[in-house]
Amino acid sequence: MRDDVKPMFAANWKMHLGPDETETFVDRFGALHSARQDARVVFFPPYLSVGAFLASARTRPDLGVGVQDVHQEVNGAHTGAVSAPMAKQVGVGWALAGHSERRREFGDDDVTVAAKVARILEADLRPVLCVGETLEEREAGALEAVLSRQIEIVLASLAPDSLSLLTYAYEPVWAIGTGRTASPDDAAQAHTVVRREIGRCGGRDDAVILYGGSVKPGNIEELLEAPGVDGVLVGGASLDPESFAAICAGGG
Ligand code: 13P
Repeated sequence: MRDDVKPMFAANWKMHLGPDETETFVDRFGALHSARQDARVVFFPPYLSVGAFLASARTRPDLGVGVQDVHQEVNGAHTGAVSAPMAKQVGVGWALAGHSERRREFGDDDVTVAAKVARILEADLRPVLCVGETLEEREAGALEAVLSRQIEIVLASLAPDSLSLLTYAYEPVWAIGTGRTASPDDAAQAHTVVRREIGRCGGRDDAVILYGGSVKPGNIEELLEAPGVDGVLVGGASLDPESFAAICAGGG
């Protein structure tokens, strides 16, 4: 963690916690977690739980809210999809793009991810661009090439003056939901590559870069201590208010 950067704690609920469970979560989390001036906390609930989150958290403006994905177009015949301007209308401030589950399950390639980031920016939302390698890619020595490609295609497609608005998440696919966390050294090494590539492509080399992959209360401190790790994007351990509140107390 860098002294001059507010750590960010982000919760990606994936397809968990419907509206009723969201209300219960926010009540409990709100009681456990007091607003921190020195950190940022953002939740990415499923679309259908966003309204319940915003209503339950109306007295907690310190808790940011985003969507987990948007379509690469603003409207049209795309059954089941949600666009960035729609997310904006509902009142969220953030959107993820390029999560590895979207890349793998829904076929989002780098060009599609780039279009999604562009739509997110046009809707005046803050994008979190997710990047990361599979185990096969890592074992084949392709870590740097994969991260470089994932970053370059997106940044090259955006207006240079918008690049400072991006937040990044490095999520090694082999560490997601597996209980296998990247070591602080692995995370630091990959974050160095991500930061270098952002700079090479015209972005800010002081951009906020989150780490994601089996983050839990027991490893938050060592991950935040890894050089270049500015926060975390948490899946499984963000579904329980106690455990996510413990994570959000990290680095304090
Ligand atoms: P886990 O924390 O469950 O490994 O998920 C990480 C993730 O994919 C966050 O976006």
